[in-house]
Amino acid sequence: ARHLLGIEHLKPDDIRCILDLSEHYVGLNRQPVKHADALEGLTQINMFFEASTRTQASFELAGKRLGADVMNMAMQASSLKKGETLIDTALTLNAMHPDLLVVRHPQSGAVDLLAQKVHCAVLNAGDGRHEHPTQALLDALTIRRAKGRLQRLTVAICGDIAHSRVARSNILLLGKMENRVRLIGPPTLIPARAAEFGVEVYDDMKEGLAGADVVMMLRLQKERMDGAFIPSEREYYHRFGLDADKLAFAKDDAIVMHPGPMNRGVEIDGTLADDINRSVIQEQVEMGVAVRMAAMDLLARNLRATLSQGAGHV
Ligand code: CP
Repeated sequence: ARHLLGIEHLKPDDIRCILDLSEHYVGLNRQPVKHADALEGLTQINMFFEASTRTQASFELAGKRLGADVMNMAMQASSLKKGETLIDTALTLNAMHPDLLVVRHPQSGAVDLLAQKVHCAVLNAGDGRHEHPTQALLDALTIRRAKGRLQRLTVAICGDIAHSRVARSNILLLGKMENRVRLIGPPTLIPARAAEFGVEVYDDMKEGLAGADVVMMLRLQKERMDGAFIPSEREYYHRFGLDADKLAFAKDDAIVMHPGPMNRGVEIDGTLADDINRSVIQEQVEMGVAVRMAAMDLLARNLRATLSQGAGHV
């Protein structure tokens, strides 16, 4: 493929291919590959129109470890402030011949739109409530390493599903890989058409977590709630916050995940989040660099193949 815009467009074999190459970049004994030449001579521009710690840092590190020239656009200081549109900004950067554009944007669909206007490979680093494909891929790699497989698992995704692109990409990926996905949360935070995605829906942690292999917690995305009903944090934590007592409803060896950023004491107990016997939250961050290296490596191979076929700048 030319771009990585969403899990929606990937086949199970594509997912396996990205995860297998990611294992190479995780390195033997988890000593990561820090110098490679897969992106040598290529230019990567990161455009983050929304705050990020993990995704932006890991895409930057991934590009540098693969030998790319990496530029982070300071979008807050760009001419967007003077009224330039997203598309004009993209066309301006496109004229400088980047090879890879990594884009995060608050509007669902903005990254797809941008990808239609530029000549380089575009990677979706999260668009509105739509998709966050590299997050789902790094979650999949973390699960596969912890459980030894990525199929026939029961995965409970808990919390604010309605506003979460992480949930959407994970539901798509886990479904494609033949896992059972459960959504747990207050009805106001579960999308009305969730059942169409082939998932089971619960509003009770005890019922939803019963027999789960993986428990994935999500943050309350207040910035996307548009003044809609938000339960008080105390009440929310009481009913839906994950602590050791609620985790006991899941399988004894269930792992705890969170994409971050995490609000301790709101959706997850801080001590549980730090418990290295149950929580794989730091591994998720570690896998993020490897998965982004693999995704950009594969897109670059495609880019070079197209160029060598004489198609010019794709
Ligand atoms: N998980 C995730 O996307 O984190 P950031 O917002 O910090 O990039």
